Amino acid sequence: MNELYLETPTIERQHEAVEYIYELEQNNLPYSGTGYLERYTNNYKLWLKQLKKYESPLTCPDNVCPGFTYFLIRNNDDKIIGMINIRTKLTDRVKVHGGNIGYSIRPTEQHKGYGKEILKLGLNKCREKGMKKITIVTNSENIASSKIIKSCNGIMINSIPSLEYKNQRDLIYTITL
Ligand SMILES: CC(C)(COP(=O)(O)OP(=O)(O)OC[C@H]1O[C@@H](n2cnc3c(N)ncnc32)[C@H](O)[C@@H]1OP(=O)(O)O)[C@@H](O)C(=O)NCCC(=O)NCCS
Repeated sequence: MNELYLETPTIERQHEAVEYIYELEQNNLPYSGTGYLERYTNNYKLWLKQLKKYESPLTCPDNVCPGFTYFLIRNNDDKIIGMINIRTKLTDRVKVHGGNIGYSIRPTEQHKGYGKEILKLGLNKCREKGMKKITIVTNSENIASSKIIKSCNGIMINSIPSLEYKNQRDLIYTITL
């Protein structure tokens, strides 16, 4: 597999990052791991500022969980392949309806093993930040995501009715780091 790494968003990626959001949108995919970039496609600079605020519980707004957002970059063509968001502190609601990590792979690069890679790299970041155990929540219909989580030693601890999708369930996994 091509070498991949996680990168903190910068102004240099503005155009490419917005394209990433449009690619998810055009394919009707959820904005997972984007750190709300979909709300700032017309004001990327402000998004970068917000990300900085979200990093610390001291500056993060009450309605947002503090955390970090990264691009997954493929080294050989310097392209954004995916996005991942790591929430370092969860509210009770997000504990069961969101979890510590959200991620996505751009539709044109799916089915190549990058989903497994982004979670693996994301878990390394969690370790670096001193996190010991994380929760990931995925929808019961999202077979790919469950496979990805299990490939990183995820253990399903609960299954509850989904808030987002009628007649579906949210599967709650934990990973001990
Ligand atoms: C879920 C997602 C990240 C998967 O990315 P990906 O790069 O295609 O995943 P991988 O190539 O690493 O595949 C992982 C496994 O899922 C399987 N898979 C991939 N897409 C699949 C699909 N649509 N249906 C069933 N299985 C699928 C792969 O075959 C692979 O299986 P294996 O372990 O038996 O080899 C991607 O579809 C996505 O971004 N979806 C939208 C956002 C999302 O749902 N995020 C997860 C929320 S936490």
